[in-house]
Amino acid sequence: MAELEVKQLSKSFDGKAKVLKDISFTIKDGEFVSILGSSGCGKTTTLRIIAGLLDQTSGQVIIDGQDISKVPVHKRNFGMVFQSYALFPHLTVFQNVAFGLKMRKLATNEINERVKEILNLTGLGELAQRYPAELSGGQQQRVSLARALVTKPRLLLMDEPLSNLDAKLRVKMREEIRRLQKQLKLTVVFVTHDQQECFAISDRVLIMNAGKIEQFDTPENIFHHPKSKFVANFIGYENFINIGEKVDERTFKTNDLILKTNEELRQAEVTTIRPENVQIVDEPDRENTLRGEIISSEYLGQSFSYLVRTVIGNIYVEEARHAPRSENDQIVLELPVKHLHVLYR
Ligand SMILES: Nc1ncnc2c1ncn2[C@@H]1O[C@H](COP(=O)(O)OP(=O)(O)OP(=O)(O)O)[C@@H](O)[C@H]1O
Ligand SMILES: [Mg+2]
Repeated sequence: MAELEVKQLSKSFDGKAKVLKDISFTIKDGEFVSILGSSGCGKTTTLRIIAGLLDQTSGQVIIDGQDISKVPVHKRNFGMVFQSYALFPHLTVFQNVAFGLKMRKLATNEINERVKEILNLTGLGELAQRYPAELSGGQQQRVSLARALVTKPRLLLMDEPLSNLDAKLRVKMREEIRRLQKQLKLTVVFVTHDQQECFAISDRVLIMNAGKIEQFDTPENIFHHPKSKFVANFIGYENFINIGEKVDERTFKTNDLILKTNEELRQAEVTTIRPENVQIVDEPDRENTLRGEIISSEYLGQSFSYLVRTVIGNIYVEEARHAPRSENDQIVLELPVKHLHVLYR
């Protein structure tokens, strides 16, 4: 296994505008990192450059301290799993998984041993003689994973590997991938645009926006301390409150309302709070409370979502409850100090 360093990587296609803009990051040995971002932000391009399938315009890809920018794809020994499983339709599961080892001209009994081992590890032992067309989507996905793992890659690269699976199977497969990654101590780069998925599976998450890194941190830190408005918005913060006038380091005044946070305001202009952290309370005089009127409500299954009109703009509130509150209800909201986060960009 290996440590991956990407250094000042840029890419433009045919001399056009840059789609990757000088990005740098390091992934530690045995670490599971997801790249998260909206469509077209450069996730696949980054992964393809790491794999050696695509040349960068500038910058370096470094593995264990060695610059491999010029090393061709087949000499990098990375495992790759794509959204389209790219299995050979005329080969059995066994033959599909054995393919890469045959190309490497390994001895037949070693091939047999390694393929069997990996098929068992991925729960495919019983299906070895089937053809891809005789498998479910999840089983095909497993074959593609087994094929990537059988060569004992230094680095496993996965580009939206679960996006063709239904919601339940997706969760099961992601747990399996995480289990295998830990068991085999793999270094993994996993591309997704599913926020929940990447938070569940990763040691760290790299959030990309228009060819740049917005934030690279643990899921917990990103969730509780998004750095920018882009990240906050991307991970479900829906309320953005302008910092009007600073009163002290952690207090500000906006539309005659005094609000406090636990974080230093510094040069920031906006704060944010998640809908489920806004409380509907009884007393209007407590710290960080304000009056509002419910404009609309929506049923979310476990809870209700309300849009509430206030002096500082409309605020989304999520509340666990059996029956909804009525529209036009006058309520008091609390923006708890510890849940009001400062966005520095
Ligand atoms: N071969 C190419 N020629 C020209 N432009 C390209 C090429 N491949 C990708 N691009 C452009 O580069 C940008 C990044 O593309 P990329 O495929 O990396 O996005 P992505 O983050 O993987 O998106 P998605 O979530 O939709 O897969 C896009 O604007 C895309 O149109
Ligand atoms: Mg992509």
